[in-house]
Amino acid sequence: MAGIRLDHLKKSFGAFTAVQDLDLDVTDGEFLVLLGPSGCGKTTTLNCIAGLETPSAGRILFDGRDVTSDPPHSRNIAMVFQSALLYPHMTAAANIEASLRRSDLAPEERRRRIDDAVSMLEIGDLLDKLPSEMSGGQRQRVATAKAIVRQPTAFLLDEPLSALDAALRMTLRAEIVNLQKRLGSTTVFVTHDQVEAMTMGDRIAVMNGGRLEQIGTPSEIYERPRSLFVAGFVGSPPMNLIRGEVADGVFAAGELRVPLAAAPGPVTLGVRPQHLHVRAEGGLPCAIFALERLGRETVLIVEDRARNRLRLLVEAEFEGRVGDPLDVAPDPARCLLFDDASGLIHAPAN
Ligand SMILES: Nc1ncnc2c1ncn2[C@@H]1O[C@H](COP(=O)(O)OP(=O)(O)OP(=O)(O)O)[C@@H](O)[C@H]1O
Ligand SMILES: [Mg+2]
Repeated sequence: MAGIRLDHLKKSFGAFTAVQDLDLDVTDGEFLVLLGPSGCGKTTTLNCIAGLETPSAGRILFDGRDVTSDPPHSRNIAMVFQSALLYPHMTAAANIEASLRRSDLAPEERRRRIDDAVSMLEIGDLLDKLPSEMSGGQRQRVATAKAIVRQPTAFLLDEPLSALDAALRMTLRAEIVNLQKRLGSTTVFVTHDQVEAMTMGDRIAVMNGGRLEQIGTPSEIYERPRSLFVAGFVGSPPMNLIRGEVADGVFAAGELRVPLAAAPGPVTLGVRPQHLHVRAEGGLPCAIFALERLGRETVLIVEDRARNRLRLLVEAEFEGRVGDPLDVAPDPARCLLFDDASGLIHAPAN
């Protein structure tokens, strides 16, 4: 296993730059999630690490060793993709063995690695099956076994769960993390799903438009998003973002007033749904737009008189009907302010 460092990595396709000046350190044994919307450069970054793309500028280092111009096979990286790459005419057993074909391992060691992988992934009963006889989740398990028997320097996973149904995704999420912790393998996991990122990553690197927006632990990213982009992208239901202005220690947006000790000027206020509360009176007058009952809690979507929508988390038993009037008010201590011009977090609100 190894630490991976990206040093001012840049990748252009003709005039278009897909990855821009990316500095990233993945520590040895870390599970790093690359999170961002479609087209932000996640796969391109992964392909550069694997050697499948040649960077336009910058360096890639494995444990301090410059591998930027090394061919893919000498990097000993294992990749797992959205659809499992298995030879269709070979059984699961033959597929797994095939990934050790070019190694000069002793037969006993080969056997031991395969047996370990098969037992870790609990695929003993799939060994005689062809890929066409397996479900999507089973194919992903076999593809993972195929990757781990090589004992690679690092694992790179590109949206391996996105083609699977929700229940299976949740099962495999925990399995992948559990396996990664047992193997202690340096892992870069790409996803555009922020729930996957939050639940799986030791750290999350949020990308946007080919650039790194923020890197941090899931709770750092969630509690202290560096930019409006991260604030809006991470969290479900999403953070409420309200454009307004601070003057004389008060944030004002339409009829909303929040006392906040902040510098005057135009800002966007961010408040998570659990920090926006229903008030008997004196808050922002709204009407219920929709109720989403999640079982354990309810997401209340309200609309103010200017038709701006806000989301609140309320208790499961919350009584209310579409159209009912109510006032809402944010907890000032839990509000974040973002600079309108730069999009960056402005100042700690109180
Ligand atoms: N070979 C290529 N030639 C030209 N443009 C490319 C090439 N590969 C990627 N791009 C462009 O680079 C940008 C980043 O692509 P990339 O595949 O890295 O995005 P991504 O973050 O993985 O997106 P997704 O979540 O949709 O998989 C996109 O705008 C894409 O169109
Ligand atoms: Mg991609």
